[in-house]
Amino acid sequence: MTTKKRVAVLISGRGSNMTALIDAAKAQDYPAEITLVVSNLPDAPGLTGARQAGIATTIVDHRTFGDDRQAFERALDAQLQAHRIDIVCLAGFMRLLTPWFVGRWSGRLINIHPALLPQFKGLHTHRRALAAGVKRHGATVHFVVPETDSGPTILQDSVSVIEGDTEETLAARVLEVEHRIYPQALRLVAEGRATFVPAGDEDPPGYQD
Ligand code: GRF
Repeated sequence: MTTKKRVAVLISGRGSNMTALIDAAKAQDYPAEITLVVSNLPDAPGLTGARQAGIATTIVDHRTFGDDRQAFERALDAQLQAHRIDIVCLAGFMRLLTPWFVGRWSGRLINIHPALLPQFKGLHTHRRALAAGVKRHGATVHFVVPETDSGPTILQDSVSVIEGDTEETLAARVLEVEHRIYPQALRLVAEGRATFVPAGDEDPPGYQD
């Protein structure tokens, strides 16, 4: 079998999607290994799970960089380079990334969003889905582009919205979908069966040196 892709998972919170990826990657025939977990918050609960699973963890605390997003992203990028990362998975990573970082990792940077994109970009997706009265709701794994929650879809799946659903019950049902499709989507990307090369990628926007 060809060499497994080296994957970093970026988290800010509990890390249940991270755990789903770690578990999937234990299979011998899985084409990727979770090499690194990065958190922008030192107390993210997911870090504990990553350590227990024997995965290297690192913290790049955005607060130590103040308003300097360039410095934060350069530090993040340096960690990814140091660990020779091939693919980056955002999994509840609550920082917006600039066009510089996105351009640098373009086609190798994926995210999971708890809605059927292009519906309900942004936050509070379950609350908004209930308020809108949709019959189906779900989750999407997509390539990351500079516009938030807007890149090409890799996989998407849905659940029914049931009479009496609350934000919590709906979130729990969608989370099961997330845990199923994120490992499947990472497999597709790692095997080169899902690809994304944005137009003009040879000249990504750069920070000034
Ligand atoms: C998930 O619902 C994910 O789709 C969203 O943030 C949540 C993170 O949950 N982006 P977890 O940290 O993976 O448990």
